[in-house]
Amino acid sequence: MKFLHKLSYALMLTAAISLAGVSGASAKKFKIAVGDSGGSSQEATGLGFVKALEELSGGKHTAKLFLNGQLGSEQDTVNEAAIGTLDMSLLAINNITPFSPTVGVFTLPYVILSLEDAEKLTQGPIGEELTQNTINDAGVRIIAWTYTGFRRLTNSKKPVKSVADLNGLVIRVPKNEIMIDTYKSWGISPTPMAWSETFAGLQTKVVDGQDNPYTTINAMKFYEVQKYVTNIRYIFSIEPLIISEQVFQGLSAGDQEIILKAGKAATAASAKFLREKEAEIKQILLDKGMEITDPENDEKEFIDLATKAVWPKFYESIGGIEKLNAVLAEIGRDPVSE
Ligand code: MLT
Repeated sequence: MKFLHKLSYALMLTAAISLAGVSGASAKKFKIAVGDSGGSSQEATGLGFVKALEELSGGKHTAKLFLNGQLGSEQDTVNEAAIGTLDMSLLAINNITPFSPTVGVFTLPYVILSLEDAEKLTQGPIGEELTQNTINDAGVRIIAWTYTGFRRLTNSKKPVKSVADLNGLVIRVPKNEIMIDTYKSWGISPTPMAWSETFAGLQTKVVDGQDNPYTTINAMKFYEVQKYVTNIRYIFSIEPLIISEQVFQGLSAGDQEIILKAGKAATAASAKFLREKEAEIKQILLDKGMEITDPENDEKEFIDLATKAVWPKFYESIGGIEKLNAVLAEIGRDPVSE
């Protein structure tokens, strides 16, 4: 009897310990590096994530946003997350491409032509495949997508309507080969510069211009140092929320599920922000004194030069021409051939 009593006590203890493993894991306060400032699309995604995380975990877990590159340049945060010294980061996909080249398919000029294209691609099988690739290549997992809109060209010197107008401008680009080659196809050699240094670069006139979506131009107060905006649409900016795969694998299955669900809610919050705010934010830029112009001839020269020179150069790094064709098919566009 005594033996049976001891046995049932031992069984109860084992059950209690394993239950603690499932439900009693410690409360977390995740640190999220955010490249952009308050008011940005990245912040909208981040806030959407924090809200959903707190709700889904019944208040047990939370996260804090560190805005405006406080935790380092966007590319550095990928390294930090990969080794597990940073939990999460919100950054432009062009700043992940150097670590996981296949995501470059989303940075190829004039591939994604609308928010709907971006949603379809990121939330379907292609988004899943790229998420898996970034885990394998870079040790980070994409858990949410920010849709920031088309990257518009800004500069402090002159209105730009044609490719020829770019002549004489020093344009900052991220350290991203696809973007560097796109500007080269338009006849100028751009200056690669980390995002965290860009405002200062524009202010001190080390560079004359840069490109980023309206919501980013506004959040970063670029209207203080830039006058002219050209409505090019060469890249629809997608800015994922990534979590360190090490951190993710250290969570219980239940917490992993909460993180993934909170990521989906954050993606939805980002799309809502863009749909509701982009036109309003464009008006703010006009009110701040920026001059916004459309490229001539529906951007035809920009499109022709970039797609002809840049797409073939990156087929290999994005996983082959068939990868680009899979993306084009997903958004109802015709395939390309070698
Ligand atoms: C960049 O230009 O490096 C990025 O698009 C900046 C951002 O994250 O908004």
